[in-house]
Order: sequence, then structure tokens, then C-alpha cells
Amino acid sequence: MSAGTADGATTDAVTDAVTDAVTTVDTPQPAPVPSGVRIGPLRAGERITLTDPKGRRHSVLLAEGGTFHTTKGGVSHDALIGGPEGVVVTSVGGTAFLALRPLLNEFTVTMPRGAAVIYPKDAAQILMACDVFPGARVVEAGAGSGALTCSLLRAVGPTGSVRSYERRDDFAAQARRNVESFFGSAPEAWDLTVGDLVEQLEAEPEPRPVDRVVLDMLAPWECVDALAERLVPGGVLLAYVATTTQLARTVETLRVHGGFTEPEATETLLRAWHAEGLAVRPRHDMVGHTGFLVSARRMAPGFTAPARKRRPAPGAYGEDYTGPRAAAPAEGSARG
Ligand SMILES: C[S@@+](CC[C@H](N)C(=O)[O-])C[C@H]1O[C@@H](n2cnc3c(N)ncnc32)[C@H](O)[C@@H]1O
Repeated sequence: MSAGTADGATTDAVTDAVTDAVTTVDTPQPAPVPSGVRIGPLRAGERITLTDPKGRRHSVLLAEGGTFHTTKGGVSHDALIGGPEGVVVTSVGGTAFLALRPLLNEFTVTMPRGAAVIYPKDAAQILMACDVFPGARVVEAGAGSGALTCSLLRAVGPTGSVRSYERRDDFAAQARRNVESFFGSAPEAWDLTVGDLVEQLEAEPEPRPVDRVVLDMLAPWECVDALAERLVPGGVLLAYVATTTQLARTVETLRVHGGFTEPEATETLLRAWHAEGLAVRPRHDMVGHTGFLVSARRMAPGFTAPARKRRPAPGAYGEDYTGPRAAAPAEGSARG
């Protein structure tokens, strides 16, 4: 797994080799489910993961009469359809494959992608930092490959809404395919708009209230004013950014706006462990960097957050500093 670039418009390599075993057999889609989680017997039209003895994962769309071809012979889909997941199937050449439905975190790192995706460790933090709740009205941009969209849709559930904006129509089409593949069809709670976030918001006849905003784009600071007009008091705005310069610009822009609480910036490091007999140690292949989260909460109209008690570090805003500059707010002062 690797981090996205500043604009995220790259295709990352996935650590596990994932082969998409495309089938040419026409097959019905199983009924959509709001959570994207299917239980019970495996059905034609479902995507499963076959893991070989070397740990390589192969994504397979089950089809009646279909075959997953490997260099060690084929695996018949019919040997899986109608049975439970968590079974081992053997290819004609004798290789054993573990068959499981992918969890959401596996789906998002193995699904086809145009833009770099938000990885599960960051998606989990985003849901918690934003406190995304069932019924929440969420705005997201850019949709990219739709990885975060899947997590947001699951968190808001059928009573909430996720409005996703993506300015590249090829990425939007990929996001749509991925979301439809995970949930079985596009959830009713989802609205995907192709276009620039701010332009699209400003083109709306009436600003629609929003509870939570998640931005994963090159220049989130450009969207702060338009989103502040729509965020409810107490609502959360969060930006996921890849570089420290983006982090700094986002933090300072939120401060200068004045209608947000003091921004918080974090990053999450996840270290997997190898545990085998006496060899218990961190794994060697830790992902060093993905991105930073910057979040702040919307104040009620007319209020600014109380002035910070701590003075900035000496030189923080010295003559070399060229970014947005907050005027020292008078405590309790009102802002439109
Ligand atoms: C890194 S990708 C997003 C990936 C996505 N979060 C996911 O998990 O799959 C960033 C996307 O933001 C889009 N983007 C950048 N600026 C935008 C804007 N102002 N309005 C809408 N989309 C924008 C880019 O086209 C790109 O697809």
C-alpha cells in the first residue's frame, strides 16, 4: 500500500496480488443490501476472494458454470455457489484456495481504482473524528474511486444521505461502479455529482444543511467558505491531506475564517505484527505515510471560538510565513 500524491490522481499498487477473474457468463445480481454485507449461502453475482497458499488474493465474481483459471488448474464456481463462505476449494491441479466474502476494508483496497483511495486505517479514523452517525447528512469531495464513499454510506445508513462530488467524470464513473458493486446497487441515500464542489454547491437554488463534511482533494481550503455556509452549528469539517503544506494551509484557513473551533491535526500509524512461536515482532512492511486529518467544528452564526490562551511559537508567523494570517480576535466577538 502506498500513500496518495497531493492530488491523489494516481493509481497505487496494492500489496497483495489481486486478480480479477472476469467471467463472460451472464449472471443475475443478488438483491442489494443496505450494509453491503451478505450472509447465508454464496450466490451467483457475488464477489468473493480466493486466497492461495502464498496469501495471494484473487477477486472472483461468481457465475453459474464459471471457472476461475489458475496455472494450477481451474476452480469451478459451482463448487462454491449455494454453500457457505469460509470453505476451502481445490483446483484441478491440487492447489487449495480459501473462499471468503471480502470485508469492506478488503474490498476498498482491492477494488478497481482510478484515483488513490483512502485506506481503511484512515477511513476508520475519519468516521470517528467526524462522528458520522445513522441519519447524518454528509457532503464528500472528491469521490475519487468511491472507497471512502462506501464507509460513509454504511455509517449514515438508509435514513442518512451522502452527497459526493467528483470533478473528473472518469473517476466518478469508477466510484459509481465500485459503490454499486459493494452494495449491489447505488444506495438511495447516495447522490453523486460530477463537477467542482464549490461550483456545484453555489449553483444550488437553496443552500442545503449539512452535518458532516469530508474533503479528500488537492485544495480543501478553497472550499471552506462555501461549506461553512451549509454546515450546521456543531457540524464537523474534516480534510484528509497528503502533505504538510496542505495541512498547514487548511489549518490556517479554518482559523482565519473564524467560524470554526481550533483545528486539530493528526496522523495515524498502524503497525502490523508478526507472531510465530518465539518470533514475535513488528512486521517489516509498515506503511510509513498515507495522509493527515485536519478537523474543526462549526460555530453558530455570529460566534467565534474563544481566543487561544497559548501564544504562537516564536517565529511561527515571522517574516518568512506567507500563508493565511488570522487577525487576533477580540474575545467573544461576533462574526457574520
Ligand atoms: C484522492 S482522490 C479521492 C479518493 C476517495 N476519497 C476514495 O477514497 O476513493 C481525490 C479526488 O478529488 C477530486 N477533486 C479534486 N478537487 C476537487 C474539487 N474541487 N471538486 C470535486 N472533486 C475534486 C479529484 O478529481 C480526485 O478524484
